[in-house]
Amino acid sequence: MASYKLLLLPGDGIGPEVMREVEKLIAWFRAQGIAGFETETDLVGGAAYDAHKVAISDEAMRRAQEADAVLFGAVGGPKWADVPYEHRPEAGLLRLRKELGLFANLRPAICYPALADASSLKREVVEGLDIVIVRELTGGVYFGEPKEIVTLENGQRRAVDTQLYTTGEIERIARVAFELAKKRRNKVSSAEKHNVMKSGVLWKQVVTQVHQAEYPEVELEHVLADNCGMQLVRWPKQYDVIVCDNLFGDILSDVAAMLTGSLGMLPSASLGAEDAKTGQRKALYEPVHGSAPDIAGRGLANPIAMIGSFGMALRYSFGLTDAADLLERAITEALASGLRTKDIAAPGTNAVGTSEMGDAVIRELERLSR
Ligand code: IPM
Ligand code: MN
Repeated sequence: MASYKLLLLPGDGIGPEVMREVEKLIAWFRAQGIAGFETETDLVGGAAYDAHKVAISDEAMRRAQEADAVLFGAVGGPKWADVPYEHRPEAGLLRLRKELGLFANLRPAICYPALADASSLKREVVEGLDIVIVRELTGGVYFGEPKEIVTLENGQRRAVDTQLYTTGEIERIARVAFELAKKRRNKVSSAEKHNVMKSGVLWKQVVTQVHQAEYPEVELEHVLADNCGMQLVRWPKQYDVIVCDNLFGDILSDVAAMLTGSLGMLPSASLGAEDAKTGQRKALYEPVHGSAPDIAGRGLANPIAMIGSFGMALRYSFGLTDAADLLERAITEALASGLRTKDIAAPGTNAVGTSEMGDAVIRELERLSR
């Protein structure tokens, strides 16, 4: 049985609660002889700040570098509202993304049939939805310098963020999008704002060049990012793969998440470049939802985005396609059986808690693999 090294970083808020459900799954896959996982657990975000006064320790970074994949819960919360900016909980996540070189963030938005009514949009708009947002994750305004607040001579303060992209950064994320589209419905929609941003002008040019030179067989369309947001809530099924920069991807993926019924449903994979020698990629898997401090510690959180993120690890890091398919079917079946956590329950109906939902997925795994 192949064995893989996993680093678990549960983080803050509901992170530890949803991670516990993945630990149950890891134990299940191990017990079935499907795959062995060696796990280590470390701190990130506010939890790391409380222990070490930094958002992630060098030791945890070293473990992340050595792991075959990192599973990440969530970071942040009101408790850390006043910590120094460079040590805020989110800085731990950004350091992981940057130092592991995780430039490609895949955020699939799938509307499970059982959940079409949980979406705030009409059933016919979201039923059967299956799109992926490919978000550039290590560039753009998140990391561009200068990034500062300075006091001017007249006493005013001025804040600067820098949106910055090079051709190489755009080419490599475009390739990820085209490669993915080839395995899906063969369409890429590239979102930017070339009407107001130089980085948008370059983005559009480079994506077009990569398309013409390497992927002419894939359909490519360009869409302004604001229009893309509007189209996502109007008729999302027109899309297959959407590729965009770091900030637009952050926003558009939250919009896409809600189409599926709840932010609690959306998993994500953050991948680095393939190692030329081993063919391996650095990878981190995390739910798109945040730490949800308002419900943390109460066992109410939906674990499906975290479970789905583990499923993406099975698929993208370990090539365990059958196991990943099985896990996705188990999620579908658990939902089809009528179980709902609070975020996806119809008003006035009974909701189950985090661990009951996790147990239901394992029950379906057992049933499906019998
Ligand atoms: C996300 C989150 C992060 C981001 C935060 C926590 C820094 O919103 O992964 O979408 O903005 O990238
Ligand atoms: Mn976000």
